Amino acid sequence: MQKKYLMTPGPTPVPSEVLLAQARPMIHHRTPDFNNVVRECVSGLKYVFQTELSDVLIFASSGTGAMESSVVNCFCAGDKVLVCYNGKFGQRMQLISEAYGLDVTVLEYGWQQVVDPADIAAHLKANPDTRGVIITQSETSSGVLNDVKAVGAIVADYNDCVLIVDSITGIGAVDCKTDEWHLDVVMTGSQKGLMLPPGLAAVTVSPKAWKAYERSTLPKFYFDWKKYLKNLEKDTTPFTPAVSLMIGLAESIKLMREEGIENIITRHARLAEATRKGCEALGLELFAPAEGRGNAVTPVWVPEGVDGKKLVSLMKNKHGVTIAGGQDDYTGRIIRIGHLGYFGDFDIITTLAALEMSLMELGYDFEPGSGIKAAEAVLMG
Ligand SMILES: Cc1ncc(COP(=O)(O)O)c(C=O)c1O
Repeated sequence: MQKKYLMTPGPTPVPSEVLLAQARPMIHHRTPDFNNVVRECVSGLKYVFQTELSDVLIFASSGTGAMESSVVNCFCAGDKVLVCYNGKFGQRMQLISEAYGLDVTVLEYGWQQVVDPADIAAHLKANPDTRGVIITQSETSSGVLNDVKAVGAIVADYNDCVLIVDSITGIGAVDCKTDEWHLDVVMTGSQKGLMLPPGLAAVTVSPKAWKAYERSTLPKFYFDWKKYLKNLEKDTTPFTPAVSLMIGLAESIKLMREEGIENIITRHARLAEATRKGCEALGLELFAPAEGRGNAVTPVWVPEGVDGKKLVSLMKNKHGVTIAGGQDDYTGRIIRIGHLGYFGDFDIITTLAALEMSLMELGYDFEPGSGIKAAEAVLMG
């Protein structure tokens, strides 16, 4: 038997309370019992998204469904949108927007760069007929955190332009003040900070986004936001929901309310800092730039002379610790340690220990124990 540790930025570990809630006998979704579940999920997600002004809609889909829903519900074919990205997931919003025939302008940055809000301001000034700005808050492929608060302040001045934020690995890991920061559409997925298995996605829809919905003519059916809103008035869903996942969500929300959203974000910041300090003490170089590091995932360069793919497989197969490798151009060149959701101090210590042991086995020269020591100093501070 080998004990397993899941240290990836999604799927993430699921607390036993949530697993047990999902194992309850099935209930029918058109019942008062399930209406209570819907009510608790929606009010809990409003708490997590820090919104009172926006509606929160829940879909049985992965996060990409929520991304696609934001495009089909806010725009018409030919609408001008600005997609800003610095990684693989941000680029997906470009692909979805193009698939639906939007007039897409791309602000593309390197994976180690932060999106510059000044570039967005300049673009909107030159193109005031832009209907949407689309950005990723926490870019999972690169670990970069973009300043969506600053972007919100810019887009708020344009009455006919909505700000769409992919916060799929932001929510529950970094601060995301939907109302205060003027974020019109914010999305997340269940397998991230919400501490659930994959299969649910949620979006917030601001009054400005509902205005965009009213003029939108793109085809939609399963992801038609109005269908979800109308059903929410009766605490239900338009289609058969992912019943067990929503029962699990009600439970994970209970845990999140108990801890408190500010404390959750502080815990994530502390774990991310311990991971960064631990890796640096081993002589490893952080991938994300100092001015934009998120709390969800820590990407680190694989040191010279070490095979990145072997490192990931050794950690998993010999030591039971699953981390993620790099994507696209960074496959085999970086590793990504996830600490998003149900994580505590000793998950980080365990992972750094497995990293140290694997690096030793691969012939990398460093002071054994130095990573753990540096992480402990952060965690005890
Ligand atoms: C930032 C970000 N956006 C979008 C996605 C896509 O979500 P899904 O794989 O649930 O469709 C992910 C998944 O990892 C993500 O991290």
